[in-house]
Amino acid sequence: MSWIREGELNLIERLSANVLKAGPVPKHVAFIMDGNRRFARKKHVDRQEGHSQGFNKLAETLRWCLQLDIPEVTVYAFSIENFNRSREEVDGLMELAKLKFLRLLDERDKLEKHGVCIRVLGDLTLLPLDLQQLIAKAVVATREHNRCFLNVCFAYTSRHEMANAVREMAWGVEQGLIKASDVSEALLSECLYSSNSPNPDLLIRTSGEVRLSDFLLWQTSHSCLVFQSVLWPEYSFWNLCDAVIQYQCNHASIMKARDLHQDEQRRQQLEADHACVAELLHHHGNGKPADGPRRQEAVAEYGLRREARVKDFLEALRNKRDSFLTQLASQAT
Ligand code: FPP
Ligand code: MG
Repeated sequence: MSWIREGELNLIERLSANVLKAGPVPKHVAFIMDGNRRFARKKHVDRQEGHSQGFNKLAETLRWCLQLDIPEVTVYAFSIENFNRSREEVDGLMELAKLKFLRLLDERDKLEKHGVCIRVLGDLTLLPLDLQQLIAKAVVATREHNRCFLNVCFAYTSRHEMANAVREMAWGVEQGLIKASDVSEALLSECLYSSNSPNPDLLIRTSGEVRLSDFLLWQTSHSCLVFQSVLWPEYSFWNLCDAVIQYQCNHASIMKARDLHQDEQRRQQLEADHACVAELLHHHGNGKPADGPRRQEAVAEYGLRREARVKDFLEALRNKRDSFLTQLASQAT
């Protein structure tokens, strides 16, 4: 089964999609695709068939998202905790991933035609080397595409991602690229695997489980969370519409909470810059208290220098990540 499923909505689906599109549509939807094994049991097929049908449903759901003008999707395809499943199941999921990423490489023309950029978020080093190389090749092949985005979380948990982001900032301080005082919520967000994406507007979990299972914990603090009882391989266009309607009903309060949070972040950054400048003036200001205008000017200058430092650090981080991927991709057979 292909990653890109061609096909049109039927008349009633098209009408419903147009009604939904008259309201605010989420720009980024995240899915916890849960329930593949229960589906397999229900249908008396083997577990691997359940996961395989789960992939098919992903391809179908991506098409619905595009038809609803949702340009970005993030999916939880393999959690670091999934490594604790039986050897047979983990091997099966790795094989499925290999098959699908190989297929993706075969479909490069189609992906280019639709402008699909595929990113893989997670700790690739935990995966078998041949799969790492294949994933890197697929990511490098589509990284310039910019019409729609699919982020596949693979060997991912949110805590692992956050701990990694903290290590990246510590690396930046060690390298002298940033100061310890430059560490902030905003900078941590930029060091996450998801730094190239806006936060999800809507997170959907299927199968009736009502928890986040260490998925996008940082990124979903102001997202609409929708839990649906349907098993992932049975997910339908109507389930997606239902989730979008729930997002639309909560849209105003989500936007308000986001704006308040952004204001608070700006306030905190200004306060941090003031504290740094106060310290600098204390050390270099001949002991004389600085007057108001001089202090304001110093804070503004300090803010500009901090922004330049952070920009250089983030560029170094991007280069480090890019060269890791490019090198892995070049080893792929
Ligand atoms: C959760 O259902 C699903 C997974 C752990 C795997 C999801 C993977 C896919 C849908 C395939 C995606 C593959 C690629 C390459 C993107 P579960 O196994 O927890 O089922 P259960 O909740 O019924 O036990
Ligand atoms: Mg499950």
